[in-house]
Amino acid sequence: MCGIIGYTGSKKSVPILIEGLRTLEYRGYDSAGVTVAEGGRLATVKSKGRLTDLEARLEKSAELLGNCGIGHTRWATHGEPSDTNSHPHATKNLALVHNGIIENYAEIEEMLKGAGYSFISETDTERAANLLDMFFCRSKDPLDAISHAIKVIRGSYAFGIIFKGFEDTIYAVRKDSPLIIAQNDEGGFIASDIPAILAHTNKYYRLDEGVIAKVGAKEISFFDEALAPVEQKLETIDWNVEQAQKGGYPHFMIKEINEEPEALKKTLEPRIRDGLPHFGIDALDGDLFASFSAIHIVACGTAMHAGLVGKAIIEKLARIPVNVEIASEFRYRDPILNKNDLVILLSQSGETADTLAALRHAKACGVYTLAIVNVIGSSVAREADSVLYTWAGPEIAVASTKAYSVQCALLYLLAVRMAMVDGKLTDGEAKAICESMLTDIPTSIEEALKLSDKICDIASKLVAAEHLFYIGRDIDYSIATEASLKLKEISYIHSEAYAAGELKHGTISLVTEGTPIVALTTVSKVCEKTVSGIREVKSRGAYVVSVCSSDLAGKYDIPCDEMLVIPQISELLAPFPAATVVQLLAYHVSALKGLDVDKPRNLAKSVTVE
Ligand code: AGP
Repeated sequence: MCGIIGYTGSKKSVPILIEGLRTLEYRGYDSAGVTVAEGGRLATVKSKGRLTDLEARLEKSAELLGNCGIGHTRWATHGEPSDTNSHPHATKNLALVHNGIIENYAEIEEMLKGAGYSFISETDTERAANLLDMFFCRSKDPLDAISHAIKVIRGSYAFGIIFKGFEDTIYAVRKDSPLIIAQNDEGGFIASDIPAILAHTNKYYRLDEGVIAKVGAKEISFFDEALAPVEQKLETIDWNVEQAQKGGYPHFMIKEINEEPEALKKTLEPRIRDGLPHFGIDALDGDLFASFSAIHIVACGTAMHAGLVGKAIIEKLARIPVNVEIASEFRYRDPILNKNDLVILLSQSGETADTLAALRHAKACGVYTLAIVNVIGSSVAREADSVLYTWAGPEIAVASTKAYSVQCALLYLLAVRMAMVDGKLTDGEAKAICESMLTDIPTSIEEALKLSDKICDIASKLVAAEHLFYIGRDIDYSIATEASLKLKEISYIHSEAYAAGELKHGTISLVTEGTPIVALTTVSKVCEKTVSGIREVKSRGAYVVSVCSSDLAGKYDIPCDEMLVIPQISELLAPFPAATVVQLLAYHVSALKGLDVDKPRNLAKSVTVE
């Protein structure tokens, strides 16, 4: 995820910017850059790659001695990682760093072209920089330019800006992307995250949405959109840098689970226009959706489990047959692919060797390929015919959580879009689902997160287990597969996911007194059947944890030892909070066992070998 630091004060800015960016490296980035104001000019140095690449460039360029500067680490969202696409973006009159995604960048580009502007990068940020430039040219007033620009911009942003003629001041404003402002005896700071300022002060202002900050070496002032002065609250933090990097959470995994509501909003909002799915931001041709007679979702691990959720929802809503394949099998087993098929490659990293090989195989067979990937410019993203980015931000914990949720969400949105093609869903029905996805999914996950303490209690009863089963039917079974993988990989407890009706065909022989079984029940049409399965294991002494929706908990007498009722949401969308609940369960078991939650043994975040 992108990182921002800015400094203006009595010291040279470059060392402070580099040191601040270094504390943000853990978030992942693909390029970095700084702009320093000196001698009446704004000098920008930037580079694709690591901070060391930027430092090497800084060494080669004339020494930047200025006391006011902004720095950025970029995690690409629009345009691949490159020198040109990296930040800051400079115009004749200003330099800008940006975190977030500007949704109407194409409209802004059109407007600016009409005013004579041209562009050198593929980024939404360069459009924003030029928009600010246009307004600044009119008034020569930074605050006025910012207040005009933010009225035009749609999307999420945290901006840090230095204007020519105002070279000792940093301006900042944000929406849906965090930004903090701080000050000590030696100057003023802006930063996207607390770790970047902790070496200088532990006091900071968390900038409110729509408030413009004017940060000088000795004075900080805040203005509302009408440019009237406003106050911001000074806060104090007692975290060290490591705690701050984890946002105060003990592990990245729990931080990332808590980021799910925001990640889902970021993934969905830009793709819902006038209430309906719209993939214009991905340059995906709408006609595409009418052309497929079968779909193959190919992926590994957690991403493959998201594919199982995708299969359930695409088949339910769009009635297109979906085949979910493990990439390492697909690539060698000579799958039957027809020219009207679509192959969807799901991958958080976009670098998984098996998924990449499967993509190449599909392309060699002449089949249309669509990548759903979290890392911009990754190999899978580059090689597929089309790509949808999940915009979950970097996932640092090896165990995938938020990336899974956003993969599922994009597959839901594709399902709705495909179902609209020949009227399997009317516009009204599709709108109702989209509306509910935008609002109810994040809200229900926020509610699910509040169950964390209760889930931790239940986890304490599972830590001694040697093996465990997750059961469910229909889409609950799909969730169970991921729940089981999550527990295995971080708690080292052997676990299996079973379709609830399948246990009796053999595996039930393993169920004895105290065997833990986590039973998912969110699907009304099969709930009664799952409950029968639960009775069968209960009567053999199983210790049953029920994860169920509130409606079904009220309607059926679910025999269990513990019950986790997921927050109220339509049955269609229940997999989202249910997934969060089982992720939390796996997390707490691992944390209670004192294991290395974020880096489980033998595992790598990205499996780039066969
Ligand atoms: C998830 O918790 C795993 N660590 C793993 O299964 C992962 O999902 C798999 O290796 C696929 O990775 P990708 O999404 O980066 O392709």
